[in-house]
Amino acid sequence: MFEIEGGSPLRGEVTVSGAKNAALPIMAASLLTREPVTLHRVPRVRDVDTMIRMLRVLGVRSEWVGPNSLTLRIQDDEPTTAPYELVRTMRASICVLGPLVARRHRARVAHPGGCVIGVRPIDLHMKALRDLGATVYVEHGDVIAESVQLVGNQVYLSGPRGSTVLGTANCLCAAVLAEGETIIEDAACEPEICQLAEFLNLMGARISAIGSKRLHIEGVEELHGAEIEIIPDRIEAGTFMAAATVSRGNVLVRGARREHLGAVIEILRQIGAQVIPENDGLRVIGPDRCHPVDVVTGPFPALPTDLQAQLTAVLCLADGISVVTERVYPDRFMHVAELNRMGARIRKEAESAIVEGVERLSGAPVTASDLRASAALVLAGLVAQGSTRVHRVYHIDRGYERIEEKLESLGARIRRVHDDTSLGAPDSDAS
Ligand code: EPU
Repeated sequence: MFEIEGGSPLRGEVTVSGAKNAALPIMAASLLTREPVTLHRVPRVRDVDTMIRMLRVLGVRSEWVGPNSLTLRIQDDEPTTAPYELVRTMRASICVLGPLVARRHRARVAHPGGCVIGVRPIDLHMKALRDLGATVYVEHGDVIAESVQLVGNQVYLSGPRGSTVLGTANCLCAAVLAEGETIIEDAACEPEICQLAEFLNLMGARISAIGSKRLHIEGVEELHGAEIEIIPDRIEAGTFMAAATVSRGNVLVRGARREHLGAVIEILRQIGAQVIPENDGLRVIGPDRCHPVDVVTGPFPALPTDLQAQLTAVLCLADGISVVTERVYPDRFMHVAELNRMGARIRKEAESAIVEGVERLSGAPVTASDLRASAALVLAGLVAQGSTRVHRVYHIDRGYERIEEKLESLGARIRRVHDDTSLGAPDSDAS
């Protein structure tokens, strides 16, 4: 658990780590070649360790060749089964599906099911592979995909909530080795997907219109090894920017990229923060009192759902009423009840949280339910009066590298205490 004494404004500089959501599908893409691939600026977070374990089961050997540099290389091309024991601890395991069926012609991946942030179907992943000619079905809780040779096609990837990030990743990884041309319509254009596409091109793939909603892929016969530096984590950057804002701080967030954070910069400015681009990052200076804003999450370039909980924590202290609407995962509001325990006034209505700003939060014991909800509780703890204990912080370790050390270096009074055992062990979760 974390013990936090609230009240210190954050000041100084912090460097964001590599993006976990870029690293995970790129790691899975190592299944597409027998040659080694090397990734730099890989965050040392639990989800990356889980992906290493998953790839080991699938015959890929991983080696840390530097503090954040990882080399992956296939040793055994036979395994095709991604077991439930691993998939249930990390939904992002689904991104081995496309690479496996493309190169090993068969994949058996445990169906990830739902999770604490919502239902999270994978119908679009399956549809994409079917469109490319694979036979795809669910049996005994596993998704099975088989194909002797995938064939390029037009793939429309939009669902009721817009495009799908990992669905696009799976489709890309399959299409690069399909025979002929593929066009993905309504592809996700998150920066992490752009980097996956760039990485596949470094491996010899032929993907064009990267960054657009209409990706064009010309299939090739084989791919080779490649090396890349993972982009800085825009969600971690946004979390520190939110922390600087709510704590009336002054923080240079090194690695925060304007082009990845447009919606977040806009919202923080409306809240009253100054956001100043500097050489290698963004400086954020928090206002004396935050202003209320109405925000809506959506696919990139809209406000990321992965920052919704953290912004909600900031808006708890605004001088008025804000409406936070969640368009990606309408049930992703597990942090609301815990923030209310700290004195926030938040009401949930359909896909929205109505946040009535209060003058102060008060420290309390709270329990994290998922990765981003834990970050929101930490932010609230930093500004609450008195001490806050955040339980189940193993959720935060899934996606934030040494967050307590980074916050401490900015003047926060936070420490990790190892007594989480009574509250349950790490089990299944979202990502
Ligand atoms: N959807 C479908 N059918 C599908 C797939 C998705 O209807 O087959 C729906 C979902 O239910 C959701 C929307 O489409 O409403 C978008 O989901 P998406 O598939 O884009 O999510 P994902 O790829 O499973 C990634 C991130 C999540 C992030 C979402 C949205 C990784 C490893 N995970 O998930 O990250 O919230 O995109 O941006 O990249 C996190 O890091 O905390 C996290 C949950």
